[in-house]
Amino acid sequence: MKKVLIATEKPFAPAAVNQMVGILEQAGYQVQRLEKYASKAELLDAVKDVNAMIVRSDIVDREVLDAAKELKVVVRAGSGFDNFDLVACTEKGMVAMNTPGQNSNAVAELSIGMMIFMARGNFKGGSGSELKGKTIGVYGCGNIGRRVAKIAQGLGMKVVALDPCITKVSMEPYDVKVVQSVDELFSASDFLSLHIPANEKTRKSVSFDLMNKMPKGATVINTARKEVIDEEGLKKMLEERPDFKYISDIAPSCHDELAGKFDLRYYSTPKKQGAETSEANVNAGVAAAEQIVAFFESGDQTYRVNK
Ligand code: 3PG
Repeated sequence: MKKVLIATEKPFAPAAVNQMVGILEQAGYQVQRLEKYASKAELLDAVKDVNAMIVRSDIVDREVLDAAKELKVVVRAGSGFDNFDLVACTEKGMVAMNTPGQNSNAVAELSIGMMIFMARGNFKGGSGSELKGKTIGVYGCGNIGRRVAKIAQGLGMKVVALDPCITKVSMEPYDVKVVQSVDELFSASDFLSLHIPANEKTRKSVSFDLMNKMPKGATVINTARKEVIDEEGLKKMLEERPDFKYISDIAPSCHDELAGKFDLRYYSTPKKQGAETSEANVNAGVAAAEQIVAFFESGDQTYRVNK
């Protein structure tokens, strides 16, 4: 009997877990759950004899893979897979997958909510400003970026976009202005919503020089990854540009230095919550469970992310 581990330091909503367990048990698999685990040792112990694993942002590094002697497939129930050691997965003949698009609406709605929160002075009273008529830069035009663009248009915002991987043609249905360079994107954006992955090309790429191109009163919204920000540059921006605001769903490493110092201009959620809706949990969790069944039953590797 195949054994599937659902290992989530940040657990899925109960409705999602119930459906995932149902799908896996229906396929005749045994399900093991490890939730809210406090140490890596617990994960290393839990992976010992499982054939498949579903995780969220949980770190799946070489040490975890070494311990998972029977593992054939690991699915990240979500979009970003920077928590996987893909090289190690490939070396060990394991298949790594994600579930693209399944939680994108939840993240997009959070990004828009964060913009309103900053434009309205953190809901603390006082006169704020509106989004209508302002320009939002969408940096990264995957599922989340495109959803942000669509909602922003509904709010009467102008949308400019850049994604190194997506051509002008594929953004045509979205009626957004596709700019040609990152400098152009930041220069045009009153609000800049980050939707790029964290990888060797993007790490620390959002620099002081780039952010400093933004117009007066600009806000950067980060629901992507903290690694894409150059934190020294961020600190400098907040120090030198008293009009600049930054809000993030992933606290920067320098959070303690920033919190309280830049009242109404800096905010970070206490725990990443972009995908924390029951709808997103169900969508991503069910997709992950179905992908595992499809992998074992018919060899389906559609959402494989390692080569
Ligand atoms: C993702 O990459 O899918 C999001 O960042 C959500 O991550 P989470 O499942 O850890 O909340």
